[in-house]
Amino acid sequence: MLCGMTHNLEIQQSTERLTALEPQLLAQLVTWRRHLHQHPEVSFQEHQTAAYIAGELRGMGGLEVSQLTPTSVLAVRKGTRPGKTVLLRADIDALPITEENSFAYLSQNPGSMHACGHDGHTAILLGVARLVSEASDWDGELRMIFQHAEEQSPGGAEELVFATALMDGVDVVSGLHLNSQLPAGVVAVKPGAFMAAPDNIYITILGRGGHAAHPEEAVDPIAVGAQVVSNLQYIVSRGVSALDALVISVTYFQAGTTTNVIPDRAELKGTVRSFDPGLRGRAPDLIERVLRGICEAHGARYEYRYEAGYRPLINDDGVAEVLRQVALEVVGEERTVVAKPTMGGEDFSAYLEKAPGAYFNVGSRNDALESGFPHHHPRFTIDEAALRTGVQMMYAAAIRLAKG
Ligand code: NI
Repeated sequence: MLCGMTHNLEIQQSTERLTALEPQLLAQLVTWRRHLHQHPEVSFQEHQTAAYIAGELRGMGGLEVSQLTPTSVLAVRKGTRPGKTVLLRADIDALPITEENSFAYLSQNPGSMHACGHDGHTAILLGVARLVSEASDWDGELRMIFQHAEEQSPGGAEELVFATALMDGVDVVSGLHLNSQLPAGVVAVKPGAFMAAPDNIYITILGRGGHAAHPEEAVDPIAVGAQVVSNLQYIVSRGVSALDALVISVTYFQAGTTTNVIPDRAELKGTVRSFDPGLRGRAPDLIERVLRGICEAHGARYEYRYEAGYRPLINDDGVAEVLRQVALEVVGEERTVVAKPTMGGEDFSAYLEKAPGAYFNVGSRNDALESGFPHHHPRFTIDEAALRTGVQMMYAAAIRLAKG
């Protein structure tokens, strides 16, 4: 095992190398990101995006470029020196959102938008690929996966991890997400539980339709559904310890056609977020108990489906510590923070089923640039200075992780 001082020197050298390349690389990062921003493609449709990425990677030389699925791209750098096999991941898909920004490089695909920063993630990993392709040699092997379909469950990570050979022989993984709630230049990392398991619920309340003037002759699925929505919150506030994180959000409630007709059914959909596997296991029954009780009380019936989503994202303590050390070198102590766990989900958790690793955040907020809108907002954007921080972090982390 190498001592800390040697590690720090390596990271410092990698940072110096970046600084030398900086003006040229920075301009390239912005060009990549803006091209991707103008040409967003949603999950599993990333054909042009993948072709663009593969073309850029092939142009760099020194990388083995292949496609394990139709819309993902893998670039591999094999070194001659011994070392670990490290996997870095960027997600490349956009969202079905109509952009409401006003800058010059708006989405040219109506109804699709890079509103989560995946255009930035892709540019960052392309930047790392370029530095790696230009390095005279490499320790071990670096795999860089440009992953499709993060925004849709089951997503691209599941497919790559469980249906291809991507993870064969991988020793350690890492990836990042830009974060519009953190100032640009700040790096946030935490050991252990970081992101929640995002499960979905689908409910149909089956009532009995009738005239709105005579509700006593009908079974009103809207009134019953409203009770269900509010009572589900009692699970969170009264059924589960305040120390066990749980979110239940009903996000879809569809019923009825006009003012004077009670419909015969109401459709509800929502999401259930948790970290703890025990609590996650209990959630389907806790929800159905509320649903059953309320429907019985009001003479309605129901259909109910609980769909398990991604696993919770649990960072490896050792790898998270390596990332923290790298962040201290790259952005300094004041800009290295402990990430807050989030109830958001992330299919990066699939990679962590196969190898230890850690996921981290790079801040992209700059109020002067109005880049503080939340992710998935039609005005979401990033401070492109965060691209540089992302490359510095990923590149230095790859060097450090390759040495084990
Ligand atoms: Ni995202």
